[in-house]
Amino acid sequence: MKYQLKINGQTRTIEAPEDMPLLWALRDGLELKGTKFGCGIAQCGACTVLIDGVARRSCVTPVSSVGKSAITTIEGLSPDATHPLQKAWEELDVPQCGYCQAGQIMSAAALLSKTPNPTDADIDTAMGGNLCRCATYLRIRRAIHRAAELGKTTASSATGSGR
Ligand code: FES
Ligand code: FES
Repeated sequence: MKYQLKINGQTRTIEAPEDMPLLWALRDGLELKGTKFGCGIAQCGACTVLIDGVARRSCVTPVSSVGKSAITTIEGLSPDATHPLQKAWEELDVPQCGYCQAGQIMSAAALLSKTPNPTDADIDTAMGGNLCRCATYLRIRRAIHRAAELGKTTASSATGSGR
């Protein structure tokens, strides 16, 4: 079957069996390798992408189920790596081996889009399904708080308020 997928603001066409996981389509079919394979059974979060703004595990999402929904991968989070989460991640030097981090950032992006000022409890709930073998959890939590602050600054400078 041929599928037209809306990915990172572009329409991409892929030929794939209907039960092919979206993760395979992204990595092997479309060369978007930022999204990682960890467990393949929705248990680790490494493969997290946004589908219509909701964090989803692409390893268990059949490509045939996506339809016209907008998919965002780590490559599409911002055009130039200046999303507040990317800035905060860099500032606080969050990654260790890095393998889980794209999934962590995408889950965090879904959280901040709904809850711009999350508490520790909000963060722990939203990020609970994203595992990190290097145990960077405390830095991730700090970076999400920092991104929330940076997001406010960006919003107020864009509107000219807060001066
Ligand atoms: S690879 Fe999808 S949740 Fe682990
Ligand atoms: S940074 Fe190594 S698994 Fe998370």
